[in-house]
Amino acid sequence: MTTVLITGANRGLGLALAQQYAADGAEVIVCCREPARADALKELAASFSDRVRIMPLDVADESSIASLKRMLADKPIDILINNAGINGLSVNEIEAEGWMTTMRVNALAPMLIAQALRDNLRRGSEKKLVAIASILGSTSSAGGGKYAYRASKAALNNGMRALSRDWASDGILVGILNPGWARTKMGGDDGFISPEESARGLISRIAELTPATSGVFQDYRPGVTIRW
Ligand SMILES: NC(=O)c1ccc[n+]([C@@H]2O[C@H](COP(=O)([O-])OP(=O)(O)OC[C@H]3O[C@@H](n4cnc5c(N)ncnc54)[C@H](OP(=O)(O)O)[C@@H]3O)[C@@H](O)[C@H]2O)c1
Repeated sequence: MTTVLITGANRGLGLALAQQYAADGAEVIVCCREPARADALKELAASFSDRVRIMPLDVADESSIASLKRMLADKPIDILINNAGINGLSVNEIEAEGWMTTMRVNALAPMLIAQALRDNLRRGSEKKLVAIASILGSTSSAGGGKYAYRASKAALNNGMRALSRDWASDGILVGILNPGWARTKMGGDDGFISPEESARGLISRIAELTPATSGVFQDYRPGVTIRW
């Protein structure tokens, strides 16, 4: 059975990914900051009590990442999805503390989590490390605004690309996936697609990951590579 771990799984794309993986028969470890208030996840865990487990994780807190690692111990993880993310600052804002928080959650945390769970991935049979990226992290197609978010997603891409090279010797494949503009709290009501449609595409792209597409910036739709 495939074991998937998803960060920020209590709502939005993380929740849609968790629901679809659970429905598809996977074992799903769903991480969120406040399990006690994660009603949708509690419902999912009740429906699939043998395969869905909720674990606390604040990705911005190193001790929380260490505690997740302790709980997992040597458990093999097939697919690790770094999904948790924030907008951080408002569109035209440039402010130090908010910028650093955005970088911490969107760019640094996925690297710290990958490092903490590297051995769990090595023990998995699929060995797939996934980052939920963003088209806004593409430098060559950048418009204006959302500076901190863009910078954080560009940094995420760069870090994940480097891991795809350095960890290839462990057989680890790295997916860098743009989820499209989805109607979540972050994406807002004008998004082009539902979280479910985005999750369906992401899950297909993750299933198709090969050494040739590891470290490539790809869209949730098939066959679309995004420029850095
Ligand atoms: N929606 C889009 O159109 C779109 C487009 C491109 C990329 N993305 C990316 O897709 C991912 C998911 O976004 P979404 O649209 O589903 O957004 P969302 O609905 O706002 O959900 C964000 C998730 O991240 C979690 N999170 C934030 N900070 C966290 C922290 N410190 N520790 C643990 N969890 C934390 C949130 O948990 P809380 O409930 O505890 O805050 C929530 O579960 C993000 O990485 C985002 O950048 C989204």
